[in-house]
Amino acid sequence: MKAFMRSILACTALTALVAGSAMAAPDPLAPTASWSVYTAGRAATPPMGWSSWNAFQTDVTEQKVFDSAKAIVDSGLAAKGYRYINIDDGWWLKRRATDGRMIIRTKIFPSAATGGPDETSFKPLTDRLHSMGLKAGIYSDLGRNSCSQAFGGPNAANLPEGTVAEREIGLYGHSDQDVQLYFVDWGFDFIKVDGCGVRAFGADSDLVTSGKYRALPPLIDVQEINRTDVAQVRKLYTDVADALKRDNPDGDYVFSICAWGSADVRSWAKNVGNLSRTSDDLTPSWTRMLANFDSAADRPLYAHPGSWNDPDMLFVGHGDFDENHLTEAKSHFALWSIIAAPLLIGYDLRKAPPALMDIFGNTDIIAIDQDPAGNQAVLAYDSNDVQIFVKTLANGHKAVAIFNRGLAPADVILTADQIKFSKTAPIVLKDLWTKATLPAFQSDTKLHVEPRQTLIFDATGTRSLDGGLYLSEMPGRVNPAADGIVQPQADPTIHRMISPWGGTRGSGERPVYTGWGGAQADSTPYGQALKIAGKAFDSGVSALTNSRFEVRNDGEFTHFSAKVGVDDSTQDTSKYVTFFVYGDGKLLATSKPKRFGDTPDNLSVDVTKVKIVELVAKSVVDKTARPTVVTWAEAALLK
Ligand code: GLA
Repeated sequence: MKAFMRSILACTALTALVAGSAMAAPDPLAPTASWSVYTAGRAATPPMGWSSWNAFQTDVTEQKVFDSAKAIVDSGLAAKGYRYINIDDGWWLKRRATDGRMIIRTKIFPSAATGGPDETSFKPLTDRLHSMGLKAGIYSDLGRNSCSQAFGGPNAANLPEGTVAEREIGLYGHSDQDVQLYFVDWGFDFIKVDGCGVRAFGADSDLVTSGKYRALPPLIDVQEINRTDVAQVRKLYTDVADALKRDNPDGDYVFSICAWGSADVRSWAKNVGNLSRTSDDLTPSWTRMLANFDSAADRPLYAHPGSWNDPDMLFVGHGDFDENHLTEAKSHFALWSIIAAPLLIGYDLRKAPPALMDIFGNTDIIAIDQDPAGNQAVLAYDSNDVQIFVKTLANGHKAVAIFNRGLAPADVILTADQIKFSKTAPIVLKDLWTKATLPAFQSDTKLHVEPRQTLIFDATGTRSLDGGLYLSEMPGRVNPAADGIVQPQADPTIHRMISPWGGTRGSGERPVYTGWGGAQADSTPYGQALKIAGKAFDSGVSALTNSRFEVRNDGEFTHFSAKVGVDDSTQDTSKYVTFFVYGDGKLLATSKPKRFGDTPDNLSVDVTKVKIVELVAKSVVDKTARPTVVTWAEAALLK
């Protein structure tokens, strides 16, 4: 009786919630019957190519760019998909005083000297790259000034010159003018927009008090989300996205957002741009690679065709990833590929030894990265020593990466369950480095992994869910449109290394990269195994309450089913949650109100011809309550 009263109360509160929200801002939980992920631009698969930054920093020249472009074509890498040749920081001379038009540093880009010192154009450069069958990328900043001006020090090569105003080469107040110049007049196809100009030029910074730069009150504090103006950062990036759309009627562009995981980009950049950096810069160090990898690897539900997590450009060829460290170099490349990261080479290809070219050119591993299903790998086994990632491919195969993070060799047991393959049918692994096919196994197999090695396989077998897919097997088609997070939190699961920039000064790297508590596949938002009322589940998606998933069914499957409930790991054990399933905006199923300890409801609905299935979990909004974790266990689309 008591439970009955409580459900009535929960329902009443819910009705009040829905009624109240009709008058306010759009309700993030209301079904929209649409897919809100950014699909403009050209990033159906993660962009591939080369960027000047990790190879040359600001010491970039036209010659170096063309030599690398030529190497990409001549070596056959272009034919394998490496198409974007991106100029990063360092190309600009100044903004023209009379009308704000950007002027290129023709000393390093001589072909840009098209009409006197004040009249420059990158058109000859982009024409030449296009004639080689390549695409051209450029770099700018969301603020008035760039990252090299903020952090390069006074001796960085090729810093902009002239008055304070002439040295304001970023997009701030100029996004329409600059985007038009770069894309319409100059013919670029890709832009990376950094955020240093809205991060480092506070009135009390040395940059400003020295008189060299104008103050711009920082919108981003990378360490502190509470001191970040998330809405304004989002708005400025959205302005750039709008300009790009306007100036590229053919849609042939890529928009790369570089805000390093700050400003809660995890939750919104997937609606605004094609790439979103998940962490600060990669350096050629093993432990920094772990940090950058972790920052993207833990958010598979936030990557989709059109909009990808970006753990930064490749450092294969340098430092811990040079030709004397091929195990590490191969790991770096395999890891970026299994999580569908952009593959942007950051190496001076004029001097690349064959062993490195073989890594960049491994067509089987490139194919894993570029798989059209667009599923970022999901973590199937986790520890600080070894991790196993599994990525469902469009052809029904699985890519499996077994990553030894540590310094001791490991004997790893890989199970059929981890791959979501039947235990009773043969499983065949093809090693994508050696090309060897391993003897078929059933149930599980044992593999030896050297320190810092990543084994990467194409796995064939019989899917454990015959005739369907668990949602956690298809994260590229599942979008946490609202993830229920009330207060974004730093992510403690990301590897923390000695700072590449500050060394051991201060008190050490504290967790940053806001993403803790975001929606997860085969795990709760806080990294626990899925469990409802004492029963564990291997498959499912999970989020906080007051969340909404969009699922692209595209008319392909006929049924949706899930076992829904409050997860045993929930922090709030008293709140009631109601689960709703919509098909193209129409309510198809509703659960009973559920709270911690209640056995799950089985929601099973017909979704024939439905394009978008939406999964909503609602409860009374209480901003001060501890998080309530909801689990859609064994959520699956079935034929
Ligand atoms: C920032 C970015 C880097 C690079 C530099 C250029 O640090 O994160 O990728 O573009 O700026 O100065």
